[in-house]
Amino acid sequence: MDYYAVWGNPIAQSLSPLIQGKFAEQTQQKMHYEAKLGDVETFEQQLAIFFSQGAKGANVTAPFKARAYQLADEHSERAKLAQACNTLKKLEDGRLYADNTDGIGLVTDLQRLNWIKPHQRILILGAGGATQGVLLPLLQAQQNIVLANRTLAKAERLAETFQPYGEVQAVAMDNIPDQSYDVVINATSAGLSGNTAPVSAAILKLGNAFYDMQYAKGSDTPFITHCKSLGLMEVSDGLGMLVAQAAHSFHLWRGVMPDFATVYKELKKEMQ
Ligand code: ATR
Repeated sequence: MDYYAVWGNPIAQSLSPLIQGKFAEQTQQKMHYEAKLGDVETFEQQLAIFFSQGAKGANVTAPFKARAYQLADEHSERAKLAQACNTLKKLEDGRLYADNTDGIGLVTDLQRLNWIKPHQRILILGAGGATQGVLLPLLQAQQNIVLANRTLAKAERLAETFQPYGEVQAVAMDNIPDQSYDVVINATSAGLSGNTAPVSAAILKLGNAFYDMQYAKGSDTPFITHCKSLGLMEVSDGLGMLVAQAAHSFHLWRGVMPDFATVYKELKKEMQ
C-alpha cells in the first residue's frame, strides 16, 4: 500500500488525513495517509527516515514549509517563488521533488466561488509567508494585485520579486488606494481579538467579496465575523482552499484529479 503523511507541529488538528482519505475513496486509489508530528530539532532526519521506509510523498505544514523546500532535490517554479513547499513527492530515481499547491488551491477555490475573472483588482492584506505562497498562481490567473502590509518594506520586497510575473503594487496598510476591489484576501496572521482588525472598515467597504485564508472549525473566522458585522456578506473562509490544495497534491502523487468541490461540501457539513 502506498504510504503518505502530513508533517507539522502541532498536527493533531489537521484535516488533511480526512480529506486525503475521502479523495482516495472517491477515486478508488489504494493509499494510506496519516498525520505525523514533526520535531523542530530533527525534522530533516525524520523525513529522511520516512522516505527511506518507502513513503511516496508528504504534505508539509507549519512550521516546516521552508525547511521542506530546502531539503528537496528539485523544485517547481511556484515552490521556488514561494521559497516554501507544502507537497513533497518521491521521484522514481529516489530524489525528492518539492511543489507548493497553496496558490493554485486558492485560485481553484476562487473559481468554485465564481469570484475570479481575468484582469480583476485584488487587495491582499499581509505580506508574510502565506502571501508569498499564493502570489504566482494569482498572477498567472491574470489578477492585478495591490499588496498591503503593516510593514511596507516586506510588501515592497515581494512586489519586486513577483513583478516579472504580472502587476503587483506594494502599499502600506494605512495607505491603501481608495478604489474598488473585486476580492479582498486576508493573508495576515492577525486574529481580530480586541482592536486588531488588519485594516480599517472604510477600506473593507471598497471590496465586493472577502476571502479569509484561515478557517475555523464550526464557526466564522474573526475576519469573516468582522466583515459580516460591517454588512459585508459576500464572504468565504479558507476551508475550500485547504481542500483544493490537497486535491492538487493528490493529483501530483496519483495522477488523478479528485472532485474537490464534493469533498468540500461533505466536510463543510461534517464541521457544522
Ligand atoms: P504567515 O506565514 O502566516 O504569513 P508571517 O510570515 O509571520 O506569517 O506573516 C504574518 C503577516 O500578518 C504579516 O504580513 C504581518 O504584518 P507585518 O509584516 O507588518 O508584521 C501580518 N500581521 C500580523 N498581525 C497583524 C495585525 N495585527 N495587523 C496587520 N497585519 C498583521
